[in-house]
Amino acid sequence: MDPHSHAEPERVRVTHVDLDLELDFGARSIRGGVRLDLERREPGAPLVLDAQGLAIERVLGADGSPRKFELGPEHDGLGGPLTIHLARADTSVRVEYGTTANADAVQWLEPGQTAGGKSPFLFTQGQATLTRTWIPLQDSPGVRVTYSARIRAPKGLTALMSAEQLGEDSEGAFRFRMNRPIPSYLIALACGDLAFRPISARCGIWAEPAMVERAHAEFEDTESMIRAAEDLFGPYRWGRYDVLVLPPAFPFGGMENPCLTFATPTVIAGDKSLVSLVAHELAHSWSGNLVTNATWRDFWLNEGFTVYFENRIMERVFGAERAVMEMQLARASVERDMANLEPWQTVLHLDLEGHHPDDGFSEVPYTKGALFLQAIEAVVGRARFDMFLRRWFDEHAFQSVTTAEFRRCLDEQLPEVAGRLDVDRWLDDPGMPPDAPNPRSPLLAAVDVELARWVATRSVDALGTAGWSTQEWLHFLEAANPALDARAMAELDRRFQLTESGNAEILCVWLRLAIQHGYAALDAALERFLTDVGRRKFLEPLYRELVKTEAGRKRALAIYAKARGRYHAVSRGTIDEVVGWKQ
Ligand code: BES
Ligand code: ZN
Repeated sequence: MDPHSHAEPERVRVTHVDLDLELDFGARSIRGGVRLDLERREPGAPLVLDAQGLAIERVLGADGSPRKFELGPEHDGLGGPLTIHLARADTSVRVEYGTTANADAVQWLEPGQTAGGKSPFLFTQGQATLTRTWIPLQDSPGVRVTYSARIRAPKGLTALMSAEQLGEDSEGAFRFRMNRPIPSYLIALACGDLAFRPISARCGIWAEPAMVERAHAEFEDTESMIRAAEDLFGPYRWGRYDVLVLPPAFPFGGMENPCLTFATPTVIAGDKSLVSLVAHELAHSWSGNLVTNATWRDFWLNEGFTVYFENRIMERVFGAERAVMEMQLARASVERDMANLEPWQTVLHLDLEGHHPDDGFSEVPYTKGALFLQAIEAVVGRARFDMFLRRWFDEHAFQSVTTAEFRRCLDEQLPEVAGRLDVDRWLDDPGMPPDAPNPRSPLLAAVDVELARWVATRSVDALGTAGWSTQEWLHFLEAANPALDARAMAELDRRFQLTESGNAEILCVWLRLAIQHGYAALDAALERFLTDVGRRKFLEPLYRELVKTEAGRKRALAIYAKARGRYHAVSRGTIDEVVGWKQ
C-alpha cells in the first residue's frame, strides 16, 4: 500500500498509458487526452486515479460514450482521487483534460531563461508525486505501465520523452513508445530548440545548440560508463542512453528518466570534474528504473544503491583515487546535513506516515544507503557482493520492491552479514551507525596538511594547490571554514580567483562561505547565481545562510522576489519555507 497515492490498483489497474497532447506555450497549458488500458481485477469496481490541479473535461469509455466521474478534494500536496465509473466492457478509458497553472511538474521557461535566448522551453519533473499534475493516472511507484505518446509542439521546436523516439508523423507530431513497464514518475517530456551530438551508436547528447558542443565534450566518456556498468551488474536493458542538458532552471542535478537522463548544465565545468552525475543517473537504469522502490518509504533502495553503483562506475572509469575522494566528501556532507534533520529523517527505512515524500528527501537515503552497502561489501567481499547485486537486478527486473524484500534476500543469500552488522540498526535507527565505513582519501589527507600549514602561517602564497582537482578544492573550502574570515577570504580570492570559478559546486560553497563570513565582494556574483540557477541543492544552502541575519533575510527576500518566478515549483516549495515567503 502506498499512502501517497489515491489509486486502488488492486481493484482496477492501469497497464498502458497512451498520450495525445498539444503543448500550448501561449496559454502555458498541455491539453489533449490520455487513453488508459485497464486490468479489471475486481469486477464492478471503479477506476481510481491521482489528479492534481488538472482541468478534466470529459471521460469516455471503451466504446467512446461518456462515463461518470468525480474529482475528490485535494489535500496535503498530493492532489485528490479521480474516480471513474466503468461500464462492464471497459477495457480502457479516455480522459480529456488540460493542465492548469498548478501543474507543479511542468516548468515553462521564457526565451530569456535559455542559452539561445530566442525560443521558449518546457520540461516536466515527475518524481516523486508530480506526474499527477500533468497526467491523470495511478501515480504510485508500485504501479508499472508501458506508454506511448503523440506530442504536438510549435513549429521549429523539438519534443523529447523518456522513451524510444519514433520520429514525426505526417502532421509533424512527435511520437514515442516505452514498451518496458515503468513507474509513473519516470514519464517525462521536454520541448525546446534542441540539437543532438552522438557519442556512440546507442548514446548521445541533446542540448540547446549553444550548449551542445560543450556538453558533448564534457560527457564524452558516457559510453565507457555504460560499458563499465554492464560489466558490473548486467546488460543495459533500455535501448538508447541519451543525456538531455536542460537550461539552468532545472531544479535537480539530474533525473534518471529512462532512455533520456535530464541534467542540469551546472555540471558542465569544462574538465569533467562533475560527471559523476552521469554515472549516477546511468546507474539508476538498474537501481531505480529496473528495480524500483515500491513506495517512497523505500527511497533508499533507489538512491543508496545508485550512489554505491555510481561510485563503482567512477572507480572503473576514473580510478580509485577519484572514487574514494567522492565518497569521503559525500560522508562529510551527509554528516553536515544530518545535523539539521529531525531524527526520523535520518532513518533509511523511512516512516512517512503523515509526511509528504519530499519531507523524507535528504542526503541520508543517498549516502547512508551507499555506506550500508559498502559495509555489507566489506563483510562478504567484493566478488560475493557483486554476485548478490547482479542477482538482485536480474530477479527483480521491471518490478517494484520493498525494504522487506531486500532484507529477505540479504538474509537468504548473505546470511553471515546478520552476524557481523546490526542490520536492524542500519535500516530502522536514526543517525550514522558506529560501524559505518569511513572512506579516507590520501589526496584529501594531503589537502589537510596544506590547510594546517595555511592556518599556522596565514600565507596564501605558501599554499600548495598545484594540480588540485575540484574535489580537493571542495574539501579544502569546507575544512577551512572554521578558520575563515572576510579578510582571509579576500586573500584566497586574490590568489585563486574563486569568485570567478566556472565550477558551480565550488562557486556555491564559496558563496555560502562569503555570506557566513560577511565577505561582501561577491554580492553581485551571489545575486547572479541565485537568479540564473534553479537547482535546489544550490539554492537551499545559500538562502538558508542568508536568512540567519536580519540584513541577510531582507536581501534574501529582495532577491527571491525577483527570482521566484524563474524557479521550478520543487525549488519554490523549499525556498518559500526557508525565507518565510507569503503570497
Ligand atoms: N532521482 C534523483 C532526483 C530526485 C529525487 C528527484 C527525489 C525528485 C525526488 C536523481 O537521481 C538524483 O539523485 N539527483 C541528484 C544528483 C546525484 C549526482 C546525487 C541531484 O539532483 O542532485
Ligand atoms: Zn538518484
